[in-house]
Amino acid sequence: MVQATPFLLVLFLALGAYGLPAKKCSLVGHWVNDLGSNMTIESVNANGVFAGSYHTAVTATSNEIKVSPLQGSQQRGPNQKGQPTFGFTVNWSFSESITVFTGQCFVDDDGKEVLKTMWLLRSRVENIKSDWKATRVGNNVFTRL
Ligand code: BTN
Repeated sequence: MVQATPFLLVLFLALGAYGLPAKKCSLVGHWVNDLGSNMTIESVNANGVFAGSYHTAVTATSNEIKVSPLQGSQQRGPNQKGQPTFGFTVNWSFSESITVFTGQCFVDDDGKEVLKTMWLLRSRVENIKSDWKATRVGNNVFTRL
């Protein structure tokens, strides 16, 4: 016990000087956003490619909401320092629309993972004259379920 004390002291000082290793931010898992939409990301491969499913809580249509597939990619380059950027597309299975999300996976001050995203929702319009009103923009914040 007496010999362990200096060792523990050195360890304590070393951790204090260099800090604990930063918590990694992983996209894999179940997420909910500020609208109440649910998203599941199954896995991210070595190239950063991922797939999953999205259950939106809201729709711009009058159609019945159905779970829809998503496909995306996260930064996995050699310069990746954690808190990666990513993008994904949701191909809505109950409408003729597509949404693209782009964002970053952060670890907040409480050590919780947060996905800060922006999106573009492209709806189908009948003709080119209506193109001006076809795209909505917004942001969503996702937390882990
Ligand atoms: C549609 O209405 O045609 C498809 C559903 C769109 C849902 C949008 S995508 C951006 C925003 N974030 C969500 O979680 N849901 C809405």
